[in-house]
Amino acid sequence: MIATAPLSEFFEGLFGVEPSGFWAGPGRVNLIGEHTDYNDGLVLPFAIDRQAVAAMRLRGDRRVRLATDYVDGVVETTLDRIGPAGLSGWSAYPLGVVWALGEHGADLTDLPGFDLALISDVPIGAGLSSSAAIESAVAVALNDLWELGLDRRSLARVGQRAENVVVGAPTGIMDQSASLLGEAGCAVFLDCRSLEAETIPLGLEGAGLEVLVIDTRVSHAHADGGYGSRRAACEAGARALGVTSLRDVSLAQLDAGRELLDDVTFRRVRHVVTENERVLETIQVLRLEGPTGIGALLDSSHASMRDDFEISTPELDLATDVARAHGAIGARMTGGGFGGCVIALVPVDAVATVTDGVREAFASAGFTEPGTFSVRPVAGAGRIEVTP
Ligand code: GLA
Repeated sequence: MIATAPLSEFFEGLFGVEPSGFWAGPGRVNLIGEHTDYNDGLVLPFAIDRQAVAAMRLRGDRRVRLATDYVDGVVETTLDRIGPAGLSGWSAYPLGVVWALGEHGADLTDLPGFDLALISDVPIGAGLSSSAAIESAVAVALNDLWELGLDRRSLARVGQRAENVVVGAPTGIMDQSASLLGEAGCAVFLDCRSLEAETIPLGLEGAGLEVLVIDTRVSHAHADGGYGSRRAACEAGARALGVTSLRDVSLAQLDAGRELLDDVTFRRVRHVVTENERVLETIQVLRLEGPTGIGALLDSSHASMRDDFEISTPELDLATDVARAHGAIGARMTGGGFGGCVIALVPVDAVATVTDGVREAFASAGFTEPGTFSVRPVAGAGRIEVTP
């Protein structure tokens, strides 16, 4: 939980006035359903207790001033100059949201400017959606301050547009949806075709389980090639199979159409088709047995990403293997892949053993020391109370 008092001080030091409020946007982990969102598929992420917090105040003119404790200096512009092109660096995220709000009905020619100071404890580039955390904090803040009346699904779309068009990362709708639609203790089951969402109680505490994040510290960037090439392979697979998206393909259809695909595309498609099935099974098991029953599904999701989708790394594979060997019920990489984090579902009394085991294994393999911390499912983005 980020304290607002130091952020308030940071804001006042920069802008000479108090902020009028604080808005938080959580990061997320994805429990299961990876690389399915942009295939119109199913995902089951949850918002985590790591968040970006924006302190903001409207101005009497059209200027916009932005600062973060992560990068020195204040970025200055005006609402007249904000377009989808030419934005770069960290301010592309908040300014991208401003631009995308304009696309969603905010009349940017007639609204007041603002000052914004932002801090975050979501690790950057770790696959925990540090960027969606910023986007949703800023989107809910401006939605309140500008009285836009947009609902949370529209705000998720706003964040995604900022990411796709302004930042240039061809990502799906999962991260922003998790960050905006989360509920305490629950995961968000999202159908990325209809955008219908349902919260699913995880029952972690009752089952004596924790979700341990193992950050391999191998950084990834989705504006780079690997993510885009997987997306392109999925689109090529759908075209070859004669469907608009892989959501429309069943395992039986995939087998029947096998000769239409080269081996690599076949495996990419198989990951997506089986992963959608695993999301449905996970929800069923959560309802019938609770979280202790979902370990094998997490493990097979990881195997599918390692072998079929080929987005894992030696660090992610080692972390999952060692976590399981030391008592985790199941473990998988989470997020876009090519680095980032593993989540392991661990009985509370085995967390220290798993943590130590992973650290030792990384040291023996000569890998960078991993970060490890537990996360809790929390509520989605919104205005927060002042805290010391
Ligand atoms: C990243 C993207 C998401 C999703 C995941 C993979 O986190 O931002 O839209 O595609 O990768 O599931």
